[in-house]
Amino acid sequence: MKEKIATIKANSIKEISSCENLKELSDLKVKYLGKKGELTVILRGMGALQPEERPIIGELVNQVRDELEIEFQKREKELKRKELENKLKSENIDVTEPSKKIEIGSLHPITQIINEVEEIFLGMGYKIADGPEVEKAIYNFDKLNTPPDHPARDVQDTFYITDDIVLRSQTSPVQARVMEEQKPPIKIICPGTVYRSDSVDSTHSPVFHQIEGLVVDKNISMTDLKGTLEMFTKKSLGENTRIRFRPHHFPFTEPSAEADVSCFVCGGKGCKVCKGEGWIELVGCGMVHPNVLRNCGIDPEVYSGFAFGFGVERIAMAKFGIDDMRLLFENDVRFLKQF
Ligand code: DAH
Repeated sequence: MKEKIATIKANSIKEISSCENLKELSDLKVKYLGKKGELTVILRGMGALQPEERPIIGELVNQVRDELEIEFQKREKELKRKELENKLKSENIDVTEPSKKIEIGSLHPITQIINEVEEIFLGMGYKIADGPEVEKAIYNFDKLNTPPDHPARDVQDTFYITDDIVLRSQTSPVQARVMEEQKPPIKIICPGTVYRSDSVDSTHSPVFHQIEGLVVDKNISMTDLKGTLEMFTKKSLGENTRIRFRPHHFPFTEPSAEADVSCFVCGGKGCKVCKGEGWIELVGCGMVHPNVLRNCGIDPEVYSGFAFGFGVERIAMAKFGIDDMRLLFENDVRFLKQF
């Protein structure tokens, strides 16, 4: 009997050490130590032994049992560690592996034009000014020499929040706000969103963008205005760009003008972009009306100034060859990522 127990012990120790995974090990434990296990069977069969042999065999079986328990525990620990090592190896993260490509967006064409214009004017010593889009009618109209009966104030043209508050229909009210806050010399541009009660078509949108410019100082003349716009258009649209001024009317400037630039696509010969004209109408401008200076607390006997304003969409469309303004507001990524 003792030999049998010794054989069981030797076999089980051999099997435990050659066991390669936890499932096998637990099956093995059942085989030797389980209810029907080989050692248990010996204990059960003790009745057949001589009475004096029973305690000896019983003790031996229990001793072997304890030893095997320890072997099982040892092997279990080893196998668990191995399993963990394998897992760590197989789930290793390679931090040098190139990442998945993230689609990076691009600046909207309108933003690109605004940034570019800002750069040019900052380079000429201008500051960037800002004003509210929900604006008091007094700034959008009255202070700009646009009296209550002026057609520009019609509900057909302008979105009214109340009788006194509008969505600004132009960036020009920023002129009045800046003049009230700052003393000359003033040199600002103001890019921003404006609103008009227009129906949507390929060249109109009720929401669009303008850039306003204002210079007020002593001895500012029409020459300064012309030189500034010439410099700007050459930098923005190309060195060969020519500019021409036509008389016009705006309530807040006197004299007023509209400036056209030679078509920067065909150079003036006439093409699709300039509709065969050779010129593209670009900017409204003029010398700040003395009433406007006075309305904003600046003495027109001492100071003079010029102002200009132009639409950003028009420049973006001409520059990027976009033939429908709606594309600029639909924000279809397939369209936007071309610029
Ligand atoms: N605010 C004018 C418009 O929306 C554009 C404009 C014309 C602005 C002449 C000016 C200016 O500052 O002097 O049509």
